[in-house]
Amino acid sequence: MRTDAARPHMPVYLDFNATTPVDPQVVAAMTPFWTDHFYNPSAAYPEALTVQSALDQARAAVAALLGADREPHSIVFTSGGTESNNWVLRGMWMGRRSRRHRLVLSAVEHPAVVETATVLASLGAEIVTIPVDAQGVIRLDALDAALDEQTALVSIMLANNEIGTIQPVAEVARRAHAVGSWVHTDAAQAVGKIPVDVAQLGVDFLTVAGHKFYAPKGIGALYIRPGVTLPPMMTGGGQQEGWRSGTEPVPLIVGLGKAAQLARAWIQQDGPRHQAALRQALEIQLREAYPDITVFGTGADRLPNTLALAHPAWTGSALLAACPAIRAGTGSACHHPDDTGSPTLRALGVAPALAGGLVRLSLGRETTAEDLAVVSTALTQAFSTCSPLSEHKECER
Ligand SMILES: Cc1ncc(COP(=O)(O)O)c(C=O)c1O
Repeated sequence: MRTDAARPHMPVYLDFNATTPVDPQVVAAMTPFWTDHFYNPSAAYPEALTVQSALDQARAAVAALLGADREPHSIVFTSGGTESNNWVLRGMWMGRRSRRHRLVLSAVEHPAVVETATVLASLGAEIVTIPVDAQGVIRLDALDAALDEQTALVSIMLANNEIGTIQPVAEVARRAHAVGSWVHTDAAQAVGKIPVDVAQLGVDFLTVAGHKFYAPKGIGALYIRPGVTLPPMMTGGGQQEGWRSGTEPVPLIVGLGKAAQLARAWIQQDGPRHQAALRQALEIQLREAYPDITVFGTGADRLPNTLALAHPAWTGSALLAACPAIRAGTGSACHHPDDTGSPTLRALGVAPALAGGLVRLSLGRETTAEDLAVVSTALTQAFSTCSPLSEHKECER
């Protein structure tokens, strides 16, 4: 893959939590399935069986990435994270509402969960939102208070898209299962970045989004624990064992499988640890130069690639506008945060003035120390100039 260091005139891309490029090896794996192997995988002739077997291989690769090697049929391909989250929440309501009507989620969930919960609330579901502490970690005491025989589903993300905080999902699952609730985790940001094992997590459902780990956009998956009876996502011709009818998007699925294989190898080769070291070096450098910056989520387990920071004198958008050498986010790619900050930072209790300063730097597998040196220089120069919010006398224009 071409790195940013190999493109010295290009800005350094540090928005990998928003999306990743498609890995060239993924593109190569997909290519024959647009043309040579175009057959409908449900057809009976030998050429179609080749396509079916490519789908099986992709399913096995995704299962292996999630520690579900022995149960590949627990993986259903979807169009991505939004669909997987919608399916679990809406399916819960269809399947369980007569007996249980409560949906429990955290205050830092992605809009694909929050907005779907709002729809279910309008249909009569009781929604309980669990607060988080200052690091963004859910309060387990509040979770306990929301759990009883009315609880249909607990949906807590594995890793937060904005600040990277990792939630104690295994503990959540243990507690929720004790009252017979289903447990879902939106792992869109975690899969491909850290080891994810459905057995260790003990969840019933887990959301995967391909474009967060070098697969194409428009493909993802839902892990469904064998034995759980979620209503189908779509009814029709019965593809994917009836879970999601519709002719499978074969090239995208093959791409997801290849990306899963590459991600697994990267994790096994200690990629996350090296990435955390790079991120940490940048964090230390910035903190030493500018002790008044706040880095969010440092007191909790965090994604190795995510560095969410704010400077009290800058809005996030102004800071990034002053740093044309960097492409980064000011929060979730799916929100349009105004200067009072994202719902995630508000849930952490961050004051609006500081929350509006959020800049999310998210590293990719190919991010190098050289890239981060460019980023550090750009931010340092911006911080040392007059800030747009500053009225300090010493600030000379
Ligand atoms: C935590 C989380 N969940 C879900 C999604 C939505 O995934 P997709 O873009 O594949 O629909 C995202 C994407 O930003 C995400 O970060």
